[in-house]
Amino acid sequence: MDEKKKVIFSGIQPSGELTLGNYLGALKNWVKLQEEYDCYFCIVDLHAITVRQEPKVLRQKTLEVMALYIAAGIEPEKNTIFIQSHVSAHSEAAWLLNCYTYMGELGRMTQFKEKSKKYGDNIGAGLFDYPVLMASDILLYGADLVPVGSDQKQHLEITRDIAERFNNAYSPTFTVPEPYIAESGARVMDLQEPTKKMSKSGDNPNGNILILDPPEVIRKKINRAVTDSVGIVRFTDEQPGVKNLMTILRVLTGLSYEDMEKKYEGKGYAQFKKDVAEAIVEELLPIQDKVKIILADKKYLEEIYKKGAEKATYVSNKMLRKMQKKIGFIPV
Ligand code: TRP
Repeated sequence: MDEKKKVIFSGIQPSGELTLGNYLGALKNWVKLQEEYDCYFCIVDLHAITVRQEPKVLRQKTLEVMALYIAAGIEPEKNTIFIQSHVSAHSEAAWLLNCYTYMGELGRMTQFKEKSKKYGDNIGAGLFDYPVLMASDILLYGADLVPVGSDQKQHLEITRDIAERFNNAYSPTFTVPEPYIAESGARVMDLQEPTKKMSKSGDNPNGNILILDPPEVIRKKINRAVTDSVGIVRFTDEQPGVKNLMTILRVLTGLSYEDMEKKYEGKGYAQFKKDVAEAIVEELLPIQDKVKIILADKKYLEEIYKKGAEKATYVSNKMLRKMQKKIGFIPV
């Protein structure tokens, strides 16, 4: 008999445009997981409203992220793809878990500390509470593994703490999840400030490549990517710009750093940058074409998110009932 597959949960916020960083750091790796694991891939719109969203844009982005999941190769037949707000257990579980979480530990989250620096006292309570909602996402499905980037590791740690606290207060209820660290080299940095992670909300639009950027824009951005005056293609922390481009090229082509160093020896950066740009275009163009087709078929998307919501609702409600029972609520 088949052993039960391990469960994976991950999600991306439908705020802003997804970047090459989201693609190489998350989506491309998720595709590889779908055979081996029981995967839940969520579009986390409840998380997105922790900062103000234009309703029309939010609707559009939610479907766009979903189309990107599918276009990147996540097959709706093999995975549960769903929209977080369709499954009310997430919000409900977040309330319950709030009561097993301390202000102190939420206040220590780096992401919250950084955001509060930016917004001061006008920071929304949702941003403070964000990790508890994320913990609910993960714990409701009994996820064993959570693919996350290094910026989300702290959120996964608090998830583990909350799970253990609840388990200890009652009896084993939640699977305590582990981070799933994707193969090395998937961390894509900002093209203008290569010591910072490439992000959707980067201040400098030349710092990121959007999955949906047209080829000429991709070429221009790579051409303008910050390098250095060393002039040698070499994989070292002392040349963070070049290192980042090498990382991208390796993930896309499989070429090793050694071979890359040999290939561009004595040639400066021009051809190297051209090859990086072409590798990106070659990877993203087919995805862009697919996204267009998928987004034009609203019925198809609806079918998938309805089916996803149904499955996710079933699984998460079971866990929610279990939580309620252990806490001491009277079942209906
Ligand atoms: N906080 C994650 C991010 O911004 C998104 C997210 C929400 C998530 N819920 C999750 C990621 C659950 C993994 C698992 O990247």
